[in-house]
Amino acid sequence: MILIKMGGSVISDKGKYKKFREETVRRIAGVLPKEKLLLVHGGGSFGHVLAHKYRIREGYEKWKILGFSEIGRDMEELNLKILKILIEEKIPAVSIPPHALFIMGDEPNMDIFHFIVDLNFVPLTFGDIIFHRSKGIEICSGDYLMLHLAREFKPEKTIFLTDVDGIYDKDPGEPGAKLISVLERNVEPETSTKVKDVTGGIAYKIEIMRKIARYSKVYVLNGFHPERVKKVLDGEETIGTVII
Ligand SMILES: Nc1ncnc2c1ncn2[C@@H]1O[C@H](COP(=O)(O)OP(=O)(O)OP(=O)(O)O)[C@@H](O)[C@H]1O
Ligand SMILES: [Mg+2]
Repeated sequence: MILIKMGGSVISDKGKYKKFREETVRRIAGVLPKEKLLLVHGGGSFGHVLAHKYRIREGYEKWKILGFSEIGRDMEELNLKILKILIEEKIPAVSIPPHALFIMGDEPNMDIFHFIVDLNFVPLTFGDIIFHRSKGIEICSGDYLMLHLAREFKPEKTIFLTDVDGIYDKDPGEPGAKLISVLERNVEPETSTKVKDVTGGIAYKIEIMRKIARYSKVYVLNGFHPERVKKVLDGEETIGTVII
């Protein structure tokens, strides 16, 4: 089993509301296996812009509810764009919207993922709006779903695609940032990071990745270079970060 997250920073331009990168997604889809695959995608500018505006992470207030619906609509729009491309590439993907699957605060029931994988489908889930037992409303990040899927399936390889080459020792936008090619999950990483998105950005991501590394070999690769994904899938060396 292979678990892959197409990060919102790759599939969209995070600086521009709802700017989809169709060709990038098509190129990524072109190197993916057509079975024994679990897919997650992030929100990028389809999710984070409005989630920030409506302060969704601070929980329910009546004035936010239309905004919450709008984000759900935008995420489904993004999901449909990706689903169409996957099917054109002959990947039998089926969407699983988290907000209809579980209420946050409860353990997500992963039964449907097992059921459809056994039928040779490829589940496609995504960072989403979600209802929350105590906060009322919340954002369910793609990274959180990655952790649950990894725990459940213990995939051989787990790949996170972002818009940079991997994990760096500091924000890759800063001069002198160096790519970390191997990160040991038991060693506290020496990276300084800035929070760039509503679900915590890279610091939260690294924390999740270190947890997933208990179950799976974790890679962070640049989604603009799908040939690197192919190499990892073929067991070859490439540019990126591996967390062991
Ligand atoms: N130390 C670091 N190493 C790697 N990337 C970093 C670091 N610090 C900050 N970043 C930034 O983190 C971004 C990736 O995290 P981000 O959560 O924005 O992406 P994503 O997971 O693709 O998006 P989404 O959450 O929408 O799915 C990169 O664009 C990169 O510039
Ligand atoms: Mg993120």
